[in-house]
Amino acid sequence: MSLQIKILEKYEDGIAIIELKNEYLSVRLSNLGCNIMSIIMRDKENKYSDIVLGFDDIEDYKTQDKYFGALIGRVANRIGNGKFELNGDKYILPVNDSVNHLHGGLEGFDKKIFGFEILENGIEFYYLSKDGEEGYPGNLNLVVKYTLNKETLKVEYTGVCDKDTVINITNHSYFNLSGDFENICDHYLKIKSDYISKIDENGLTIGELMKVENTPFDFNEYHQIGERIEESHEQISLGQGYDHPFIFKCEENQIELYHERTGRKLTISTSLPGAQLYSSNFLDGRTKGKNGIYYNYRSGVCLETQMLPNSINIEGNSDTILRKGEKYNSYTEYKFEVLR
Ligand code: GAL
Repeated sequence: MSLQIKILEKYEDGIAIIELKNEYLSVRLSNLGCNIMSIIMRDKENKYSDIVLGFDDIEDYKTQDKYFGALIGRVANRIGNGKFELNGDKYILPVNDSVNHLHGGLEGFDKKIFGFEILENGIEFYYLSKDGEEGYPGNLNLVVKYTLNKETLKVEYTGVCDKDTVINITNHSYFNLSGDFENICDHYLKIKSDYISKIDENGLTIGELMKVENTPFDFNEYHQIGERIEESHEQISLGQGYDHPFIFKCEENQIELYHERTGRKLTISTSLPGAQLYSSNFLDGRTKGKNGIYYNYRSGVCLETQMLPNSINIEGNSDTILRKGEKYNSYTEYKFEVLR
């Protein structure tokens, strides 16, 4: 089957649901926060399941605070105390996570309605984030392209701003390859990384690197996510599990997630230098998701490719600065295979 692209819903407020479907995958996207609402794939017995957490009703995406499936920006993760300095100017952003600014603020990109255009091989979303929106400088023109090629969903982000600004965009899908959304502890994970950046008691990246060797953070070989998640380690306690930025040591296929019973495997390849591994430590069984299932602690895993969180406040790390008129460009590819 060649790729079919269909607009499934178009609501009065401009929100739409679009499906990309081929013989391997069926992916539902929304222009509300460029959301990946569902990814349906088969397992080794040819049983189809949805492998991302989310909601049945689009209304729930408007009010959610877990960021299921969403694009995150202008700056993903935390900015310490909601403050930063750029070119000598001080910027104050809304604080929405204890003392820090999180995931773009009170109304980040996850809550914005993007314009869109259907392409031959996917869909392009666009949005103008105005100067001063959530405290960030400059009018940022953002374009996000999703394309589906066989078993691979590719997401490309480009942006241009009319002032110097900061940018760090990611996607916040919670994966559970088992399809039953119970627990991701039995998933095998591989991350090609020798260092994480340490976090503090509020989950803020402080920029101090830690070698993963001989710690529960060494995923250079496959380990089940649950294998060492309860181990006594300062960083595990601070994150209440995994909630840390990993710094990649190679340039492609940096992450693999494998679920043995179903044979489903996800390989992530990105141009970005790292990813936040988040083992859904803040899901608490109170969020009612798809098919009436309440999502619990560790029912999904987020593999959020991005630059180092809080970069703008970390000395010598200017990666997230986007200069006026220059082009921001990054991509992440998600390849979904079935091993038999
Ligand atoms: C993650 C972040 C977590 C938490 C979560 C949203 O990206 O690392 O600490 O804020 O988003 O609930």
